[in-house]
Amino acid sequence: MRLQGKVAVVTGSSMGLGEAIAGELGNQGARLVINSRSRERAVRMAESLAEQGVEALAVAGDVSTRAGNQALVDAAVERWGRLDIMVNNAGISRNGRSLELDEAEWLDHINVNLNGLFFGCQAAARQMVRQQTGGVIINLGSIYSHVGNRFRAAYIASKHGVSGLTKALAAEWAPHHIRVLEVCPAYIRTPMIQTDLQTGAVDAELFFTDGDIQRRTPLGRFGVPDEVSKVVSFLASDEASFISGTSVNVDGGWVGYGGW
Ligand SMILES: NC(=O)c1ccc[n+]([C@@H]2O[C@H](COP(=O)([O-])OP(=O)(O)OC[C@H]3O[C@@H](n4cnc5c(N)ncnc54)[C@H](OP(=O)(O)O)[C@@H]3O)[C@@H](O)[C@H]2O)c1
Repeated sequence: MRLQGKVAVVTGSSMGLGEAIAGELGNQGARLVINSRSRERAVRMAESLAEQGVEALAVAGDVSTRAGNQALVDAAVERWGRLDIMVNNAGISRNGRSLELDEAEWLDHINVNLNGLFFGCQAAARQMVRQQTGGVIINLGSIYSHVGNRFRAAYIASKHGVSGLTKALAAEWAPHHIRVLEVCPAYIRTPMIQTDLQTGAVDAELFFTDGDIQRRTPLGRFGVPDEVSKVVSFLASDEASFISGTSVNVDGGWVGYGGW
């Protein structure tokens, strides 16, 4: 088990990629703080991990704020006395035309996907510096950290921000032996992307069909959550001890391909 004895926080871990990441880190021996805004879903996830023998603590809260992120780090330290791994996974994504995008919609994306993610990095790094043990921070980016597309401006701006932030913090915190990384998935079937795939719904131009995604992805399919969680678990481990300040695409070739 590559993460035996480590303590990890995974934001937004009650479903989707966060659920898979928490499950895999737990399988590898980590103790976990599970989080989502819904207390019920976070508790259910922590209980299910406990049934598999994983030590997990549910902390409900909104990670778009500094206080929300600090509460997760505090909970880990109070329970286990330390923090080794922070996975800033929580995110939101909604499609819309930029000419009509309203202020709240824009701010929601930036607040959850970028501002909150920075506060997660900061809360974790302060604890890691205090411990003098180093640590690993993994930020969930996206193929849209690297490329543009129509009708997703707020999401794409926030994810490009995650990429820049990851590089900046990795350089700044390397003297403290903190590695900072970004993991960038293409389309993975989770509750989030159901909104991106509503064929024929609302306004077909805004959404992709299953066929669109399969055609655009060189490997010809969606990814599955475990293909992301296993990369996160490797990057969080000492096996990845010289990898920092970079993005790892888990995208079936999406970013490298220039066609449509
Ligand atoms: N799925 C994909 O294809 C894909 C591709 C590229 C990148 N990503 C990225 O991967 C991450 C996870 O995506 P996903 O597909 O797993 O999303 P998802 O299925 O919508 O799950 C999101 C999780 O985050 C929680 N959450 C959302 N906003 C939160 C907030 N403000 N505070 C705390 N928890 C919050 C949700 O629970 P509550 O609603 O209860 O809060 C849920 O547990 C995101 O950063 C996303 O941008 C996903």
